[in-house]
Amino acid sequence: MKLIVAVAKNWAIGFNGDLLFDLPDDMAFFKKTTLDKIVVMGRNTLLSFPGAKPLKNRTNIVLTTNREFEAEGCIICHSLDELFTELKKYNSDDIFVVGGGKIYNELYPYCSEALITKVDAIANADTFLHNFDEDENWYLSYASEVHENNGLKFMFNTYKNKTIENYEFK
Ligand SMILES: NC(=O)c1ccc[n+]([C@@H]2O[C@H](COP(=O)([O-])OP(=O)(O)OC[C@H]3O[C@@H](n4cnc5c(N)ncnc54)[C@H](OP(=O)(O)O)[C@@H]3O)[C@@H](O)[C@H]2O)c1
Repeated sequence: MKLIVAVAKNWAIGFNGDLLFDLPDDMAFFKKTTLDKIVVMGRNTLLSFPGAKPLKNRTNIVLTTNREFEAEGCIICHSLDELFTELKKYNSDDIFVVGGGKIYNELYPYCSEALITKVDAIANADTFLHNFDEDENWYLSYASEVHENNGLKFMFNTYKNKTIENYEFK
């Protein structure tokens, strides 16, 4: 399982239920990487999508504790146990955790890789990601050249988990 996210220099990822940056090249990277794959998200992230609709051409799995919650085109899981039972059906390499803050921070220990778009800006935010630079279980294995959209510079970085090559869901 992998995680994919865009972060500011202060590891900020969201404000008021929305993303912090408008980066078309990062959106394209996200789409290319997750297309035809399995995406795992929290209920707030689903609700932040246009029309609260799932991502097209992907298997959308949504976590919520609300047993009444339904969303067309989504598989709903009510706990990590339920999620892990569902995830056993798929190739672990095809599973992407796509947010938001709560879900990333609960699931990163089970990820083998984190695809982190690092934006060279500080943003006012209410949602933050775990700091992978300060986690001794993770290392930066790849950093792209610098890209620029709308005056913002960013890099596509890959962090690897030293402790997990591929998590086996049981
Ligand atoms: N920068 C990026 O790449 C990126 C990507 C995605 C999202 N975001 C941003 O992140 C923010 C949203 O993050 P968030 O932390 O507020 O919400 P979230 O992680 O999307 O969803 C949190 C919700 O998921 C459910 N949940 C979490 N853990 C669960 C568990 N173990 N079992 C069952 N349900 C569980 C709960 O729903 P219930 O309350 O219904 O129980 C919880 O309130 C937004 O600002 C969004 O734009 C940023």
